[in-house]
Amino acid sequence: MTTRRGFIKTSLAGLGSLLPFSGLVSNGDRKKEPQKPIVVSTWGFGKPANEAAWKILSKNGSALDAVEQGVRVPEGEPDVQTVGYGGYPDRDGEVSLDACIQDQNGDAGSVTFLQHIKHPISVALKVKEETPHVMLTGEGALDFALEQGFEKEDLLTEKSKQAWEEWLEESDYRPDGQIPGHDTIGMLALDGAGNLSGACTTSGLAYKYHGRVADSALIGCGLFVDNEVGAAVGTGVGEEIIKVAGSHVVVEEMRRGQHPEEACRKAVQRVLKRNPDLRKTNKQVAFLALNKNGEYGGYCVREGFSYAVHDSENRMEQAEFEVKGEG
Ligand code: GLY
Repeated sequence: MTTRRGFIKTSLAGLGSLLPFSGLVSNGDRKKEPQKPIVVSTWGFGKPANEAAWKILSKNGSALDAVEQGVRVPEGEPDVQTVGYGGYPDRDGEVSLDACIQDQNGDAGSVTFLQHIKHPISVALKVKEETPHVMLTGEGALDFALEQGFEKEDLLTEKSKQAWEEWLEESDYRPDGQIPGHDTIGMLALDGAGNLSGACTTSGLAYKYHGRVADSALIGCGLFVDNEVGAAVGTGVGEEIIKVAGSHVVVEEMRRGQHPEEACRKAVQRVLKRNPDLRKTNKQVAFLALNKNGEYGGYCVREGFSYAVHDSENRMEQAEFEVKGEG
């Protein structure tokens, strides 16, 4: 297995030893099979999500099924206030969700500004499978979900309602990504057949403008999968990720031979180059990537981004970061 730490060692030994898209991992003179299956996902809630995904991957299931079932875990967990049911509402007190999913053929489904449905990722999957479209939004997405048999529910829990009511006392209406707990789950999997898929789902920025949609449902921004190369997800302030098409940048860097961690670093640098003022804030932007060899890595703007990795053992890893001693 070539892990992020393995990459650092490999880098020291010389980048020429990497054979990123040969289907084989170089380890000195030895060549070994890609690490598969494997699943990676963002933040601490990725760990239980990985468990659900692993149940599928370990039984030779597909990466697509794994990522859908994996991210449904935080979507359904009311204590996770940044994804799915129990998510923080917008500034008008309404919960709206964004999600997308992409498979090994590049086929994708997405929903934006979806209200009242607990599992937007499963609606996104239905968009991919049952319609000629990639994205449905708002009322159209809700109508479609109901037609598909999803249940209409109130997603605002008492806990998130209380938080919103406290926020309303000041209510400065400047959603700026600095509210704690602004985290998306992005998940990437490589299955036993060697196919990649990814999923990304969020309730978005707490107290956002009603109608705001960010990166998490946008293919190429919050998620991008290219089965020839690798897959990437973004998390953090979505506006910054959209403006550089962040996940697409990561995948294209991997196509040029970069290790996933280095590819994520290039995307973070792109974000910071476009918006140098981000250095002076406490806003976070992070990327996580997995390549066709089962190598993975993450990188972020500032300290604090962690991700979960399951390749038979489920563990957390801390990402390296770009901005040190600023802000
Ligand atoms: N990255 C998720 C969001 O900004 O809503």
